[in-house]
Amino acid sequence: MGEEQTQSGWAFETLAIHAGQPPDAATGAVVPPISLATTFAQREVGVHQGYEYSRSGNPTRTAVEQQVAALETARHGLAFASGLAAEDNVLRLLRQGQRVLLGNDAYGGTFRLISKVWQPLGFPWTAVDLSDIDALVAAWPDDTGMVWLESPTNPLLTCFDIEAVASVAHARGALVVVDNTFATPYLQQPVTLGADIVVHSATKYLGGHSDVVGGFLALDDDDLAERLRFTQNAAGAVPSPFDCYLVLRGVKTLAVRMDRHCQNARAVVDLLIGHPAVSRVLYPQLPDHLGHAAAAKQMRDYGGMVSFTLRGGEASARRVAAATELFTLAESLGAVESLIEHPGAMTHASAAGSPLEVPPDLIRLSVGIEHGADLVADLAQSLERA
Ligand SMILES: Cc1ncc(COP(=O)(O)O)c(C=O)c1O
Repeated sequence: MGEEQTQSGWAFETLAIHAGQPPDAATGAVVPPISLATTFAQREVGVHQGYEYSRSGNPTRTAVEQQVAALETARHGLAFASGLAAEDNVLRLLRQGQRVLLGNDAYGGTFRLISKVWQPLGFPWTAVDLSDIDALVAAWPDDTGMVWLESPTNPLLTCFDIEAVASVAHARGALVVVDNTFATPYLQQPVTLGADIVVHSATKYLGGHSDVVGGFLALDDDDLAERLRFTQNAAGAVPSPFDCYLVLRGVKTLAVRMDRHCQNARAVVDLLIGHPAVSRVLYPQLPDHLGHAAAAKQMRDYGGMVSFTLRGGEASARRVAAATELFTLAESLGAVESLIEHPGAMTHASAAGSPLEVPPDLIRLSVGIEHGADLVADLAQSLERA
């Protein structure tokens, strides 16, 4: 049904609330029931109503899979127990010896999975600057099986031209995987730009309320989807029905939340630009931001994440991170409440000493949907301690 509804012509906000979520056939309930059953009755051996065992398939999971796939304009959606579980499933598509080209800024956990778990098993990887397409073509390793990128990246918010990267990769027979966690399908739909597989940490904007860990894959290709579904079941890193329900519920308000995230992020950026304690502001809307042109081309708006560096260095960054009241000092991002963190010591500690190491004076903000003026005031008072 997700596929039919994708073609229905409904707008994003309508799909978010209706795709995969018709009133319950048995009761008319307007909210999909949380199907806790682990197993499903069969009338005869092998004759059932589409479900056998909940690791293989579950009605609540189907609902969220159809909902998110529709929003990504993808034919297939697969839900996982975490973003990293979804990523691990994608990496299992590679044949031993095939290389992953990883954009040179990415979530520390993705770097850890590729470099510390998969590389020792015989899957090489290289960090590449995907903003220089000519350099990418010139240095393309022949054994590349997959290009993996975030846009905007975590935590530097660099944006890459997904269409340009996809055309280089496809001409050389490699798959393109785009982690769309920061943009969400409301701001950017990588499948329409040529990505083969879209990855999400549903823990972030899709869930949106800091109360569920989850992951997601969305894609068009039937054969790839069949292979990924096989591994989803065979390796078994599936989300619980309750977690599926929480993501489903969160996604319904994604569009309105993202609009407010973007609006508040702009207010915060206005404070940071020209602030005497701040040396650099990283936000894709800024004309001198790395990848601004790509972002302007492929995104509806510029997102709720803002990063900046402090003139006073790492000590100053740590003082600012400890001095906010409304911005909670914590890992993660993408929920209604604002968060502040020090990537070098927190989310990206595992990238220390690697090509993906982040600057020590960097602060990353996940700007929430509280009143913008309160957020600006809180940040302003914390910057006084810089
Ligand atoms: C961009 C990005 N991708 C993937 C992940 C991993 O997701 P999870 O924590 O749900 O496993 C994260 C987590 O922070 C992330 O920021």
